[in-house]
Amino acid sequence: MTDLAKLLAAKAAIKEIGNARRIGLGTGSTARHFVQLLGEAVAQGFECISVATSIETEQQAKSLNIVLKDLDEVEELDLVVDGADELDADLNLIKGGGGALLREKIVASKAKRMIVIADKSKMVEHLGEFPLPIEINRFAFATTTNQIKNSMRELNYNGELKLRQTENNEPFITDGGHYIIDAFFSRILDANRLSSALLNIAGVVQHGLFLNMCDLALIADDNNVTRYEK
Ligand code: A5P
Repeated sequence: MTDLAKLLAAKAAIKEIGNARRIGLGTGSTARHFVQLLGEAVAQGFECISVATSIETEQQAKSLNIVLKDLDEVEELDLVVDGADELDADLNLIKGGGGALLREKIVASKAKRMIVIADKSKMVEHLGEFPLPIEINRFAFATTTNQIKNSMRELNYNGELKLRQTENNEPFITDGGHYIIDAFFSRILDANRLSSALLNIAGVVQHGLFLNMCDLALIADDNNVTRYEK
């Protein structure tokens, strides 16, 4: 999928802003286009305040003179615009391919509306082909990994678990200082059950299943953007 599709989805999201003035900024290559376009609008006089979902997005937004606030400083957000690694027909998502899932989920939880922008390769019939990112505490991470494995077995999944690593073969560390385990499911059958099981494990901080959070998905190819609304 080309970058053009991502740009078209981001442009469509700009048109959705309407009266929104408190805007959550997602993370990733698609959200990056949205932040760039928002920065261009700000340069032309558009006034808004934003909350970033990662250090990377924060730096980009700052470079574009977008006014940033901490999430704690705002009562709520009017909307958040973010990318996704997978989304299904019910607009349930897998996120966290870029490692920002925890902040992304916290920010989305305080937004009245979540808009997902993505190229059409992200649309799937069943979630799970993209490995599910699970953010875990670094303390006793092998124990937590084993507990995730056991929990998966109980739910009849036998996929692999991989500690995410950087290009230098060191563990990837999230903005929150945690590790990420990528869990290979192939196909997730009951996302709600899996979500609860994972959150029941003491060392699991959060996972990349975003269930019933997305209100509108703007899915693009190189020519068109299709709206999927809840
Ligand atoms: C970041 O952690 C992710 O949740 C991204 O939103 C997701 O990986 C989509 O990224 P791209 O837009 O780069 O595909």
